[in-house]
Amino acid sequence: MDSTPSKVLAKCHNIDDLRSLAQRKVPKLLFDFMDGGAEDEVALRRSRSGFDRYQLVPHNFVDVSKINISTEVMGRKIDAPLIVSPTGLPKLFHHTGEESLVPAAGKHNIPYTLSSASSTSIEGVGNLSSGPKWFQIYVWKDRAIVRDFIERCKGAGFSALCLTIDVPITGNRERDVRNGLAMPLKMTPTIAFDMLRKPAWLYNALTHPLPTLANLVDRVEGDTSAADLSRYTEEQLDKAISWDDAAEMKEQWGGPLGIKGVLRAEDADRAAEMGFDSVIVSNHGGRQLDHSPAPIDVLPEIAEAVDGRCQIILDGGVRRGTDVLKALCLGATACMAGRPYLFGLGAGGQAGVERAMEILKGEIHRDLMILGCADVKDLGPQFLRRID
Ligand SMILES: Cc1cc2nc3c(=O)[nH]c(=O)nc-3n(C[C@H](O)[C@H](O)[C@H](O)COP(=O)(O)O)c2cc1C
Repeated sequence: MDSTPSKVLAKCHNIDDLRSLAQRKVPKLLFDFMDGGAEDEVALRRSRSGFDRYQLVPHNFVDVSKINISTEVMGRKIDAPLIVSPTGLPKLFHHTGEESLVPAAGKHNIPYTLSSASSTSIEGVGNLSSGPKWFQIYVWKDRAIVRDFIERCKGAGFSALCLTIDVPITGNRERDVRNGLAMPLKMTPTIAFDMLRKPAWLYNALTHPLPTLANLVDRVEGDTSAADLSRYTEEQLDKAISWDDAAEMKEQWGGPLGIKGVLRAEDADRAAEMGFDSVIVSNHGGRQLDHSPAPIDVLPEIAEAVDGRCQIILDGGVRRGTDVLKALCLGATACMAGRPYLFGLGAGGQAGVERAMEILKGEIHRDLMILGCADVKDLGPQFLRRID
């Protein structure tokens, strides 16, 4: 059952409107899981407010009769400087999960990054669109998992890998603790009431299989509930990873590789030196270390350190086209975003995700024109003014 008429989605004029709609449709417990950050959520808030420190200063008398927002990232031409960040278990927010997210990204020709903790398998996603598909990978203690994932990605037509390095352990997300979001879920009267108030979500949840970590079900013997697989994942995350592991992964994969979770210039320098194709400047959407810097705040020093040796992708806090323009002015080639597309998913399945993409693309196009820049590739510091 999909109960969101297109005219309701059309009334969502920006990402915040989609967020409000998702909040009305998804149980609070799950909405908070998608929306929240670690501890006091300072990093989450700053990832957004960091953009306000920059003003966009238009150049006038520029021919903007033709605008180009397409670019090239990790070896593929894409229709806008946008990438879908990896997010685990999206079927929690809407029963279709990746089956909505991947075709929407394919339709807009922007890369979709499948999480290691996805609710659809690598092979399942491979068949969902012909658009660019990336896979997010961790260094697992059992290196056989790493090798297996890499081989499966090669077989399923994934064009790039993205190594996440900021999760030695899951961040302390207190909204989840307070809401009683645990694996396995203990059905309390509060949670039951919360779900009953979202009848369309509940109907779909009851009439579809329970979401599980689809890439891992075959690796674990016995109980393959999401609860056990989540525990397995947490145990398997290698807390002693080194640059040697990153180098080994690079060799095994042999294709375009990004490193996600970089916030220090010296790490970006090392990644560029090692031949990584992109550095993904990210604080995991404020979900890991609270008080970590906003990605936009460290972007200038990272761009200086990288000095054009590899691409830079900004991830976190992007809710407006102008955020993307600012990141590109500071040296990024494209922006990843997670929640904006999840809000779209929760608000209205594939149509909601497409609405999020249309909104961001539309804003980039319009604001680029008003800024007096005909091509996203020509953005640079000449359009920015920093205020403190
Ligand atoms: C619900 C949710 C699940 C996530 N799961 C993963 C994951 O499995 N792997 C990963 O590298 N990042 C994960 N992230 C972080 C995102 O990839 C991304 O860094 C973050 O969402 C960016 O911030 P934004 O939501 O403000 O765009 C997750 C984020 C959210 C909101």
